[in-house]
Amino acid sequence: MRFRPGGPDLAAWAGIDPAQVAPYKLEDVRPIRKIWAKPLAADWKNAMDNYQESYHVPAGHPGLNDLVDAPDSDDLKISTTRSARWSVGHYQSLLPDFPHLPPELQRTWRLLSILPNMALDLYPDMMDFFQILPAGPGKCIIRSGAYALPDERREARAARWLNERINAQVQEEDNDLTLAVQRGLRSSSNSVGVLSTKEVWLKQFQDPIRAKVPVTRLEEPPDPGTMATLNAQLASL
Ligand SMILES: [Fe+2]
Repeated sequence: MRFRPGGPDLAAWAGIDPAQVAPYKLEDVRPIRKIWAKPLAADWKNAMDNYQESYHVPAGHPGLNDLVDAPDSDDLKISTTRSARWSVGHYQSLLPDFPHLPPELQRTWRLLSILPNMALDLYPDMMDFFQILPAGPGKCIIRSGAYALPDERREARAARWLNERINAQVQEEDNDLTLAVQRGLRSSSNSVGVLSTKEVWLKQFQDPIRAKVPVTRLEEPPDPGTMATLNAQLASL
């Protein structure tokens, strides 16, 4: 699976099971818009944390919550109950079948994390990636590209347009959540996670960071200038 000839095999590089991506024929997709990159006033890890758990979906993403049945796995099943929300309802009713996909993926959103800072979203109608790029303390850049197999059917074009509209809204909502958490990081009541046994993916993301950067296990931030020494001390324990 490659975006252009000669590159690395993305499934192998990203640790993704090739069987999860093979049905989507990613070697044949073409860009459907320009890649965008937008700054966000949050730590990259905080922004990525947000993507690693889905129990915020009912409260944080009302449109996405209408769209899918149970947002608690890699594969989100599109609900058969038509949403009253304009974009979501039209996407549910207009989404055509796609000949390249097996029946179980015709109405599935497959969302895959590529740790530590990337995600691949595989939809029936298109796919996108996003990256969260560190840009300094309290700053990151969110970058995303979208691609699709050539398909000029009117309903396929409509589905792609609605999909992007739904996801733009989800991105806005995630940004608000991430910025709220960012403000909370400075609060005295903030504590280190993982906070719930439901945070399986969050743990998978954070455990390697805690292992490589042990100061992240501390309740209080280290004094300025002491981080390298503390990291070395904690790593040797
Ligand atoms: Fe979210």
